[in-house]
Amino acid sequence: MVGQQALTELAKRRGFFFGANEAYGGTAGFYTFGPEGAALKRNVESAWRERFTLRLGNEEIEAPTVMPEPVFEASGHLDGFDDMLIECAECGESHRADHLIEDAVADIEDAEALGVDRVEELIREHDLACPTCGAALSGEPVEDFNLMFETSIGPGSGQPGYLRPETAQGIFVEFPRLKEYARGQLPFGVTQIGPAYRNEISPRRGIIRVREFTQAELEQFIDPEEDEPPLEDVADVEVTLYPASEQNADDGDYIQTTIGEAIDEEIIGSPWVAYFLGVAQGWYERVGVDMDRFRFRQHLAGERAHYAADCWDAESEVGGNWIEIAGFAYRGDYDLRKHGEHSEDRFTVFKRYDEPKTVERATVNPDMSALGPEFGGAAGDVADALQELAESDPDAFDSNEVTVDVDGESYTIDTDVANFSVEEQTENGEHITPHVVEPSFGVGRTVYTLLDHAYSEDTVDDETRTYLSLAPEIAPTDVAVFPLVGDDDLVTTADDVADELRAAGLSVSYDDSGSIGRRYRRQDEIGTPFCVTVDHEGLEGDSEPTVTLRERDSASQLRISVADLAAELEAVLAGDGTFADLQDRYERVDTDVTTA
Ligand code: GLY
Repeated sequence: MVGQQALTELAKRRGFFFGANEAYGGTAGFYTFGPEGAALKRNVESAWRERFTLRLGNEEIEAPTVMPEPVFEASGHLDGFDDMLIECAECGESHRADHLIEDAVADIEDAEALGVDRVEELIREHDLACPTCGAALSGEPVEDFNLMFETSIGPGSGQPGYLRPETAQGIFVEFPRLKEYARGQLPFGVTQIGPAYRNEISPRRGIIRVREFTQAELEQFIDPEEDEPPLEDVADVEVTLYPASEQNADDGDYIQTTIGEAIDEEIIGSPWVAYFLGVAQGWYERVGVDMDRFRFRQHLAGERAHYAADCWDAESEVGGNWIEIAGFAYRGDYDLRKHGEHSEDRFTVFKRYDEPKTVERATVNPDMSALGPEFGGAAGDVADALQELAESDPDAFDSNEVTVDVDGESYTIDTDVANFSVEEQTENGEHITPHVVEPSFGVGRTVYTLLDHAYSEDTVDDETRTYLSLAPEIAPTDVAVFPLVGDDDLVTTADDVADELRAAGLSVSYDDSGSIGRRYRRQDEIGTPFCVTVDHEGLEGDSEPTVTLRERDSASQLRISVADLAAELEAVLAGDGTFADLQDRYERVDTDVTTA
């Protein structure tokens, strides 16, 4: 297992990621992905898009990252998206109060669920000190701190806006249009990959807790009464589950089961959530997560976000700690209902009945020639309020007078003026608010997990070697091409080979500096699966030119003709064959790479 420090050092040295704005002293919680990291991240995003957008038949959108305040009033983020803040009176440093408790008290893993008052008490009881300066924190107030970055849209005082704390809201607010593209038919899914922002109180652990990060989210809109996921596709997928009941039990343990059994035994309540856990398990395995260091953990009751009825996290073990790398939330109708209540638009879909239904519908036909003179400009609102009352409480029209509220004012009229009646109507369907199931992936945390799980050391030629055993699909570079130095023919051939491989769609790195051994080590450390060396032997005689092809993990080599190289590499990288197959068909080479 690699420590965080060693991995962060490698990430910086080899251009995976490093703290941003270092020329200006750095900005906590912001990271730049360097050339290798950006390529790795892009490959993770492409693999996610392929699985969760294209193969599931979903649509992807790209919404703005800044959204106006009413969006977050509706979504609940303005009121409920807080972390617990405690400030040190001595040095002024801010800390996550719940994290201080979790770090100090062995049997508390989720202090946030305990609430502000209890956390304040625990800080007193355990006499906790400021991690920065050591001053006592006992007696300092713990406050809820909203995590959204606020901004102003437009000049002057502008319109208050916020950087989105989740990409999901960009999908929810566009639901009225998106349902049109789906022709009003449930179920349908919409995805988005992009940045989200959280003004973390104390960003920590490198890129694991940051203030700007990339999410890959799928919002699956369903009719909860009718739509079922294709469970047969994932029923046999084996998973490691850590349900809330096991976390709460003294002798609680993981449950090794299949998705099908987990549903039958009601370990996972929602078949849709279970379905996405099954799909995600396969995807994580494909991109190179070590499945012995991976689990699905159910949220405890106090841990769930304000919108979630149930939630399971995908967690990976890195550096000895478990981190959340994805969440699978059953959001119910919370988001669409709230946006429907707060906006002018309709966040429902029309569900057509199999057969038209005859229903009794209470209705009013108010006499406006009486309401107008009596209530002036409020007459229209009074008429609307009467119709709402007829639908919600028809018995209210049994008396001689009926009273409605409009904007906090009471209006009383003779019931005759309302012209109340109950009519039979034929209805073809009803407007329903879809439910939402949300697989939400943290891309940066996935990248970090892949680096951690790929980090390997072995001995080659009596030297310790560090290499990243990344899945070829994810590795930043497919193949590196090296000419032996000092010979123009070798350089020309290497240039041609690199061009040919690029033309075949491979990502190619060209390196002509230092010994071949050092060049191999550099590529090993960034996880390049294959290296091609153009050497004298390959250009000798009249036969077709050949090169050596080296595979990263085994550090073994073979000799292959330049003419065959692109097609053979393409096939292996696409999963149609392995390097071992090539070893059966081509001459093996036994080269001392470090001294070449
Ligand atoms: N959309 C879920 C989350 O941001 O956590």
